[in-house]
Amino acid sequence: MITALLFIWSSVLMFWYWYNRRHLVKLGSQIPGPPAYPIIGNGLAFWGKPEEVFGRLKDMYLMYSRLIAIWLGPKLHVALFEAKDVEKVLKLKTVEKADEYKYLKPWLGESLLISKGNKFKFNKKLIMPAFHINNLKRFLDVFNDHSLTLVETLREQVGKGEFDIDQYFSTCTMDILLETVMGISKDTIGDQAYAYSQAVHKLSRLAHMRIYKFWLRPELIFRFSKVKKEQDKYLAVVHGLTEKVIKQRKKAYESKIQQGDYNESEEKWTVFMDSLLKAKDENGLCLTDEDIKAEVVTMMFAGQDTTSTTLGFTLSLLGIHQDVQDKVMAELDEVFENPNAPVTYNDIQRLHYLEQVIQETWRLYPPIPMVAKKPSTDIDLDICTLPKDCTVGIMIMGVHRDPNQYPRPFKFNPDNFLPDNIKARNPFSFLPFSAGSRTCIGAKYATLLIKVMLATLLRSYRVTATRRERDFKLAGQTVLKRKEGFLVSLHLKDEYSASISQ
Ligand code: HEM
Repeated sequence: MITALLFIWSSVLMFWYWYNRRHLVKLGSQIPGPPAYPIIGNGLAFWGKPEEVFGRLKDMYLMYSRLIAIWLGPKLHVALFEAKDVEKVLKLKTVEKADEYKYLKPWLGESLLISKGNKFKFNKKLIMPAFHINNLKRFLDVFNDHSLTLVETLREQVGKGEFDIDQYFSTCTMDILLETVMGISKDTIGDQAYAYSQAVHKLSRLAHMRIYKFWLRPELIFRFSKVKKEQDKYLAVVHGLTEKVIKQRKKAYESKIQQGDYNESEEKWTVFMDSLLKAKDENGLCLTDEDIKAEVVTMMFAGQDTTSTTLGFTLSLLGIHQDVQDKVMAELDEVFENPNAPVTYNDIQRLHYLEQVIQETWRLYPPIPMVAKKPSTDIDLDICTLPKDCTVGIMIMGVHRDPNQYPRPFKFNPDNFLPDNIKARNPFSFLPFSAGSRTCIGAKYATLLIKVMLATLLRSYRVTATRRERDFKLAGQTVLKRKEGFLVSLHLKDEYSASISQ
């Protein structure tokens, strides 16, 4: 009797599962893609080290070029590589962040990167003013100070041959973020800064692992895994420090109000966290401590590796393309009469060629190579239909190499970003910060920071690199990196020019 009931019950469940999925499976099977095995789908393609997975995805891209259906277990993922398809998806109001972002929740909470609906709208409204350019300009002193410190630190590598510059950039950008987001520095928190930075890197790796190793996705399996134990250890570091700093800054703010020292119109904040503590909507509603913690840890995560990897790729490319570096140097000489002067906002606006170089670097090596969306309705493309509830991967790196948009897509050519060339392309062919309603809130901050750092470094050092781009071993975890590190040699600029002219 029990066996019969179990049999009937499991048959009903299977029928219900099949019935609910038939639409997804039917439309999914009409999208080009590699053959999928029962149960695991194309899961084997995601087995192995990040650079191996990246290599397999690149091969798939070369084979299918416009779009690919990939089954991760029972879940359909469709990767899009062409600007016109991406434009269609990103412009739709029925497209939200993909479900996969929920695996970041234990770390990033209900922050802008993850939240949807009213929660997202409320937080965005209160946070946006902090990213206004007039506020960002106040960070220029911090960016300049840390860039000069970096120039000094890098002296130990001058003339010593190739080394991986990633660690230097990573430490510097983390220090800048700790100061501008939380108002803390190595001087005030000592070793905790290093522990925090390490924890952010580990959490990013673990979150990426949970998304791609699809067998770790179910909560029941994850809860008893080693990955969860590790995650808890690093969450304690990141959340512990953030909560401590929120408490301290909140106390300072409240005691200022109590003592009558606080005048809203005169107050000039220099730290993101303070602006979040003070933000109110028209009904007087504020962000909770939990919201502030979520937003702060998100900024620390979203801002750090993305900026340091941009710097690493830019220097690698300038090291290879000496003619481009000559033009950057000429522009720097023209803009800066005093080679040691700090970079001002006015200088930044005059560094047009440097900007083209950064954009071309983002085109070829976008720090976030893909973002994921979930449509709540079917989306008709001209060759197939993307079924509702699948995960749509916007393959930013593929879109950036679309030969219909970029005539020689694999060639490093900063002239791709001359104003006339930009105008001639589909605006969705360049998406380093994504596009649409969920575009990056930190784009201006990142651009200012990167320009200040490069303008400071390249007034002191000449960069060379021996490894060609075809030999870069790309590894895309959450952020795109070079597996072998960002290998460059540094030379004192004046000595290098003298040695070349001899
Ligand atoms: C070169 C540097 C950066 C790049 C390439 C970059 C790229 C991106 C991309 C592609 C997204 C969309 C993610 C998605 O939809 O899954 C995003 C979102 C976001 N980024 Fe950035 N980012 C950079 C720097 C920063 C910085 C410096 C901050 C903050 C200090 C920041 C904060 C955020 C936040 C909060 C979101 C979520 C926005 C939303 O959904 O409304 N990013 N970023």
